[in-house]
Amino acid sequence: MGVFEVIKKRRSIRAYLEKEVEQDKLLKILEAAQAAPSANNCQEWRFVVVGDKEKRKQLSIAARGQAFVATAPIVIACCAQTDERKMTCGQVCYPIDVTIAIDHMILTATELGLGTCWIGAFYPEQVKEILDIPPHIKVVELLTLGYAQSVASNPKQRLPLNEIIFRDKWGKTCL
Ligand SMILES: Cc1cc2nc3c(=O)[nH]c(=O)nc-3n(C[C@H](O)[C@H](O)[C@H](O)COP(=O)(O)O)c2cc1C
Repeated sequence: MGVFEVIKKRRSIRAYLEKEVEQDKLLKILEAAQAAPSANNCQEWRFVVVGDKEKRKQLSIAARGQAFVATAPIVIACCAQTDERKMTCGQVCYPIDVTIAIDHMILTATELGLGTCWIGAFYPEQVKEILDIPPHIKVVELLTLGYAQSVASNPKQRLPLNEIIFRDKWGKTCL
């Protein structure tokens, strides 16, 4: 699959088979995160890969009781070890850098036939306690990973291009 095909194919997966994720595939997915760009190449991202069943169950509770989180054979806690530096544009680097790395992992997983789901609805303090993550570390997102039980067949709900893209100046549509 080409990148564009992978992007179009990816959907959030909320039901997983019990099948394990092969080590070589997992490693490739993590290497995709490592290869991501980051502001000033600071690479503040850190990842806790969770396969332990009991911990996954606890993480699903920390994720506001989203039960499907526990059914994924792998949950990745996507974190940042950061001094909270900002770019000239005023944006804090770490949420952007960690997010790019997550998307690299997600697209690689899709290419490898695996499913993922972003999890932003979680209580970071609970996740830290479950995974022994030190207080100064930020938990940015959780990511579920595994083989999909089913993939949504309905079309992606997205705003039309002419509502989100302007040409040369704000508000001037280009398409
Ligand atoms: C930052 C972020 C946080 C999200 N958090 C959750 C979540 O906690 N639980 C969930 O089921 N889906 C979550 N999602 C998935 C979105 O609901 C999903 O991407 C969106 O509905 C579009 O569907 P699609 O991913 O199938 O294209 C999250 C997505 C993003 C990008």
